[in-house]
Amino acid sequence: MSSDPLQYNAEGKLRHFLSLDTLQRDTLINILDTAENFTSVNDKAIKKAPLLRGKTVANIFFENSTRTRTTFELAAKRLSADVLNVNLVTSSTTKGESLLDTLRNLEAMQCDMFIVRHGDSGAAHFIASHVADHISVINGGDGQHSHPTQGMLDMFTIRRCKGSFDNLVVVIIGDILHSRVARSDIAALRILGTREIRVAAPRTLLPADVESLGVSVFHRVEDALDGADVVIGLRLQNERMQGATIPSSDEFYYTYGLTPERLRIAKPDAIVMHPGPTNRGVEIEAGVADGQQSVILHQVTYGIAVRMAVMAITMSNTTDATNRQTESGDAAATVGNQTGNP
Ligand code: CP
Repeated sequence: MSSDPLQYNAEGKLRHFLSLDTLQRDTLINILDTAENFTSVNDKAIKKAPLLRGKTVANIFFENSTRTRTTFELAAKRLSADVLNVNLVTSSTTKGESLLDTLRNLEAMQCDMFIVRHGDSGAAHFIASHVADHISVINGGDGQHSHPTQGMLDMFTIRRCKGSFDNLVVVIIGDILHSRVARSDIAALRILGTREIRVAAPRTLLPADVESLGVSVFHRVEDALDGADVVIGLRLQNERMQGATIPSSDEFYYTYGLTPERLRIAKPDAIVMHPGPTNRGVEIEAGVADGQQSVILHQVTYGIAVRMAVMAITMSNTTDATNRQTESGDAAATVGNQTGNP
């Protein structure tokens, strides 16, 4: 039985998707395998699967997003759900309506799934602990805590490019301190048995307890890149910085920027990843971002299939879905082996 009663339901199946660190390896593998199946839907002329037909998915983004919000919308539509994009700039949250009241109103509109991005770490867990039993909550990024679907699409990209994880040296460069992507990637890489996970950053951009994350720490990016199979760049998350943490973005580029010269220190077949948005000339040179080793846009494409997988799995494990399966046969069979059993 899982030790995470919020994300797993009473039967031990994945019901919410909030963070990766407490998930079991089988759950992650199931998401990756299910996403593999959904890539075939995305390659068809008619990109539709009926798994969420009749369901309503609400995208509730309190922070800006390009990739996450749009690929969740595409993923939901490709699963045949109705999609509600809640515009928080024009919503009644600007008149003082609380987060929970906003969500209760969306529940009253018979939404079935909330995709939530919020600036506060822990917001998605808070919401998941207050919603009705038939609703799944998926974290689209909370503060500097977690971005679990980005973590899974990064794992999907690595597995597609490199096969297995056990022989890999993965290097994450940049603003680790403020990065929810770094935390989710590190958690997933560890669960999947990655040989070595390195982080390269100035001391001011590392969490105080960085070693406890199970990574090797480097302050010279050239040392970190030696023998790397996967190189993940991160932007400086200025919106989460309080006060000066680095002298300047020029200084950061000079010391940590991913240039073609530095990339040559990694293995010749190393792949370059970045969650986006990229800041060319700050954490990555354009020639690397657009170069032959870059898989940055593949990450975006794979994000649709991964988000389809997470939505299909969690939705098949809500109380509502379980009741319907009892009434009308095994609906989960439609999802193949996508029931999220840990
Ligand atoms: N990777 C990512 O979360 O990008 P967006 O902020 O554009 O969603």
